[in-house]
Amino acid sequence: MSEPKKLFIKTYGCQMNVYDSERMAEALGGKGYVETKVQEEADMILLNTCHIREKAAEKVYSDLGRLRPLKEAKPDLKIGVAGCVAQAEGEEIMRRAPLVDLVVGPQSYHRLPAMEDAVRRGGKALDTDFPEEDKFEKLKGRPKAHRGPTAFLTVQEGCDKFCAFCVVPYTRGAEVSRPADRILREAHELVEAGVREITLLGQNVNAYHGHEGGLAGLIWALAEIDGLERIRFTTSHPNDMDEALVAAIGECGKLMPYLHLPVQSGSDRILKAMNRKHTAAEYLDLIGRIRAARPDLLLSSDFIVGFPGETDQDFEATMDLIRTVNFGQAYSFKYSSRPGTPAAEKAQLPEAVKNERLARLQALLTEQQRAAQNSMVGREVGVLFEKAGRLKGQMIGKSDFLHAVYVQAPIEALGQIRRVRITESAPNSLGGVLID
Ligand code: 5AD
Ligand code: SF4
Repeated sequence: MSEPKKLFIKTYGCQMNVYDSERMAEALGGKGYVETKVQEEADMILLNTCHIREKAAEKVYSDLGRLRPLKEAKPDLKIGVAGCVAQAEGEEIMRRAPLVDLVVGPQSYHRLPAMEDAVRRGGKALDTDFPEEDKFEKLKGRPKAHRGPTAFLTVQEGCDKFCAFCVVPYTRGAEVSRPADRILREAHELVEAGVREITLLGQNVNAYHGHEGGLAGLIWALAEIDGLERIRFTTSHPNDMDEALVAAIGECGKLMPYLHLPVQSGSDRILKAMNRKHTAAEYLDLIGRIRAARPDLLLSSDFIVGFPGETDQDFEATMDLIRTVNFGQAYSFKYSSRPGTPAAEKAQLPEAVKNERLARLQALLTEQQRAAQNSMVGREVGVLFEKAGRLKGQMIGKSDFLHAVYVQAPIEALGQIRRVRITESAPNSLGGVLID
């Protein structure tokens, strides 16, 4: 038998890209590729890219530049660009980086095996279509027999919301929900391979409409699967948070008490300019209802500072919203102008203003996150153990609230959910002891 060919994938950006990278590796597995973590030994390198902010997109070109010596030393090496930069920039990538053999968008990667044939014959291949056929149908099942305890599962792709800052509607296309029976089948396959926790993914996951009752209906159906012990979902839009989902957060025991609910700004003027179609008060009201359903829920969010036209007063409104909600965790970004989006046409704020606001906002969010971490000390939580730690006898897992938790535990705990009492809190992790 010939040696298997080696595939190296570098994944940028969001969790949906992590899922897509797994599916691309599986698709190329059918062509005799096995994954490697060592770039130098690869026969094919795929960069699965992100276009959300300028820095992410530019990083791809600098990484491609760094691959040049490798390609020169190994002319048979094939280099591909996948993901959202591939979708947005297509042929431009091949022009700017002639070492690229293959460009494939997020909706056409089921065609990778045929594209691989074409590049092996010495050609170039480019596919940034939004094809009629469903890529997930073409990709068939999930072939791996053994998996770690956690997995992502994309249930919905694309976005019709057109927030004024965002490239996603252009790179990922219109909102599409996968049929529930296929998702349930994939979830069964994952659980049979050892998965205990599934995170449902979608750019707008709570707009899912492939099951009666929407995302809540799908969650209740997944909760019926024996062996599946935890369910999470991300990322949600406040306007798609329906009552059934709020109720499921309170009532479904397998749904974990962590919610990422981006608000972006606390100023109604800026929310309007962003085309968010909700006000700060509506967001706060929603948070109130969710917390009433599940009081101990850990809330996370995304913030953009320095959106065109943001005044000091607008920024202070965002700070006020943060103080009112008290987030357990959050992500914050300086506004980055993206070509083709409505906000890119507007006058941009000075970089110094963006930097100053981001620093203040992050200081406040960090303070809230620290307080939330510290408040865990003394509490008992479920921890799903995912891997061994660096210290002898140490295992690392995730709490119900998605904190990383370090515990002295036997190796059998791997893949199990055990009760843990939290004894220590560090900035990005917790320490604890087993209590059963
Ligand atoms: N500039 C800065 N941040 C952005 N995001 C999306 N587009 C931009 C942009 N142009 C942020 C939003 C979103 C998260 C995934 O990335 O906060 O929720
Ligand atoms: Fe980046 Fe958005 Fe594409 Fe994810 S969907 S990779 S966040 S641009």
